[in-house]
Amino acid sequence: MKIRVINGPNLNMLGIREPEIYGRETYEDLVGFILQSAEDLGVEAQCLQSNHEGEIVTWIQQALGQADAIVINPAAYTHTSVAILDALKAVGLPAVEVHLSDVSAREPFRQVSYPAMACQKVIMGHGFAGYREAMEFLISPAK
Ligand code: DQA
Repeated sequence: MKIRVINGPNLNMLGIREPEIYGRETYEDLVGFILQSAEDLGVEAQCLQSNHEGEIVTWIQQALGQADAIVINPAAYTHTSVAILDALKAVGLPAVEVHLSDVSAREPFRQVSYPAMACQKVIMGHGFAGYREAMEFLISPAK
């Protein structure tokens, strides 16, 4: 099973950006955690990060034929991007949305998620572990 893991804008700044919210570990640490988790779970993870909405849309489109499922943290685009929602709907692959922080307990403008409307599950507030939980769900959705 191949899982495409897409991280959106500013997640390359992990470790520097608002450490009181996102922690002190870096994006490289996150990639290491995801790859190790994937190995433990017996799946292949492809990790991608972009600060550009269109690039994320293209990577979702290209997942068709290249991956079996998608884990996505659209970051700030969560709250604005109909284009990312439409791309997820277009490919129709099983998808899980992940947020490091508990967005449900943050500002009102973070309470909307467009991509979540095309995802089987949303995991928030579990830090790095949320990405592992997302992969576990995609491997066995019934659990
Ligand atoms: C985030 C939450 C978003 O609201 C924010 O814009 C991010 C990160 C998270 O992982 O907690 O950049 O997606």
